[in-house]
Amino acid sequence: MKNIGIIGCDGRENAIGKSLLRTLEKIKIFYMGSHSNIGLDNLGAIYENGDILNGGVILDWVKKNNIEFVIIGPEKPLEVGIVDILEENDIECFGPRKILALLETSKLFCRNFLSMLEKKYNLELNPKYFEFTTEEEILCFKKVFSNPYVIKQDELAGGKGVLVMGDHFNSFTEGEKICTDLYRKNISFIIEEKLIGEEFSLLSITDGINISHCPPIQDYKRAYENNTGPNTGGMGAILNYLPFLNEEDIKIAEKINQMVIENISQYTNTNHKYKGVLYGSFIKTSDGIRVIEYNCRFGDPEIIPLFEAMKTNFYNICKNISKKTLAPIHF
Ligand code: AMP
Ligand code: GLY
Repeated sequence: MKNIGIIGCDGRENAIGKSLLRTLEKIKIFYMGSHSNIGLDNLGAIYENGDILNGGVILDWVKKNNIEFVIIGPEKPLEVGIVDILEENDIECFGPRKILALLETSKLFCRNFLSMLEKKYNLELNPKYFEFTTEEEILCFKKVFSNPYVIKQDELAGGKGVLVMGDHFNSFTEGEKICTDLYRKNISFIIEEKLIGEEFSLLSITDGINISHCPPIQDYKRAYENNTGPNTGGMGAILNYLPFLNEEDIKIAEKINQMVIENISQYTNTNHKYKGVLYGSFIKTSDGIRVIEYNCRFGDPEIIPLFEAMKTNFYNICKNISKKTLAPIHF
């Protein structure tokens, strides 16, 4: 594995490049995206401008540069099935196939899948949630939700698809209007009970068989001093110092990730198990740990403290994923 490709060109991909180069092996990094990244350029990575959602463009780039392993940075290429296309052409990847990435790309799929796990293992993971299929249902949904709720578009919406009552809208009437508008625009969405508590994330890296959990991490999403501003993609992140969590909470989050990884691969054939990273987003409520959502890629900026603290370099991790011999990762 000498030539490695990275799909994406932002801070996350820069962190990936830095960690890859901590190997003593001589490797060459290529990256593709819509703009070059000075951090990656300074590492000697070779930039190619290209459409990272176009399988043909990516395959040509991979072949031209003899790239042996491709790491998918953002979620959109997972959604369109870039991993499927590469693997069908014998190129190994870090990242799950399209059908497994539904965990991130469809909120409804994720909730229904977790609901199946709740029944199988007799535990609670989801808030109360509901999918609306008719306009009449929207008009009487106060019967279903008498408490604050969250409206979530079912598909990826670049961080703009989640509307939280109290943050983005204030009354049931406003919520109904948003739902009716989405419905009339033919945008699928679900409604969830609003969970109250402290949020944290726990990422687990897997080759499909072996799983290694990362320390818990908290993303600071709100802008301005004292978290008073609007939600953003992430203002910064704190790793492994989350005083509201005890050992038991962390074990629960690890166990939930493990159950997800062990069960999600039923949607593909046995050769295409979930591999890459599973990013679990949790909330500690007064009733216990619940799942906010799942992502199928590294968080940005979470990856920055995570990879700074990681003793293993990411090249070794990728090599072990490719051989299905992932060993525990130390931080
Ligand atoms: P995004 O990163 O845009 O998908 O937004 C996700 C954010 O929405 C989470 O970090 C939570 O703050 C919030 N959120 C999502 N689902 C819920 C829920 N059921 N209850 C409370 N907050 C939620
Ligand atoms: N920082 C949040 C995310 O990457 O989804």
